[in-house]
Amino acid sequence: NTNMIIAIDGPAAAGKGTLSRQIAEAYGFHHLDTGLTYRATAKALIDAGLALDDEAVAEKVAREVELAGLDRDILSAHDIGEAASKIAVMPSVRRALVEAQQAFSRREPGTVLDGRDIGTVVCPNAPVKLYVTASPEVRARRRYDEIVAKGEMADYDHVFADVKKRDERDMGRADSPLRPASDAHLLDTSEMSIEAAFRAAKAIIDAAL
Ligand code: C5P
Repeated sequence: NTNMIIAIDGPAAAGKGTLSRQIAEAYGFHHLDTGLTYRATAKALIDAGLALDDEAVAEKVAREVELAGLDRDILSAHDIGEAASKIAVMPSVRRALVEAQQAFSRREPGTVLDGRDIGTVVCPNAPVKLYVTASPEVRARRRYDEIVAKGEMADYDHVFADVKKRDERDMGRADSPLRPASDAHLLDTSEMSIEAAFRAAKAIIDAAL
């Protein structure tokens, strides 16, 4: 298998999503936002009125998730993100979704996958790994601005507390915790515009190609 894989990890609201889409577009690669696979599993459970704490049921639903139909607009709701991070601690749910993500990663001519464990677990042999972060304050501010831009109500302190809680759950779990792969390039976007982050990422990727 000769295709190119770009692995992008980082905490919630670090700007990985926008960056990953722009990179995939620039190189003509397929893009998978793996957070959507966890979100789609959570939403399917909620919609079917099923419990979020039954691992066998959650695994079965995870195996039925279709990568083709994932839509961030439908899956963006706050409670879906919360539920996603709860089922994401279940090893058999992770195994099911990781298998689907690995199959996706082999598409030609190349792929960009973003998530929490791409460089460490899903694609440990990816030739390029980025770990995209920003301070919790900056991430909470960006999330807050996004909510307000949609015309919805938000409270900064509440959003900040949510960001911290999500970090703790994602970094603290036993199976595939969020952490940079040892060979990942760190990209702190706290002081960067979207354009600057893209240029910095492109420079790292071009140097590795
Ligand atoms: O990135 P997003 O906020 O959409 O992800 C939702 C949740 O899915 C994350 O908080 C995390 O718990 C989980 N997730 C994961 N592994 C990934 C992608 C997302 O555990 N590769």
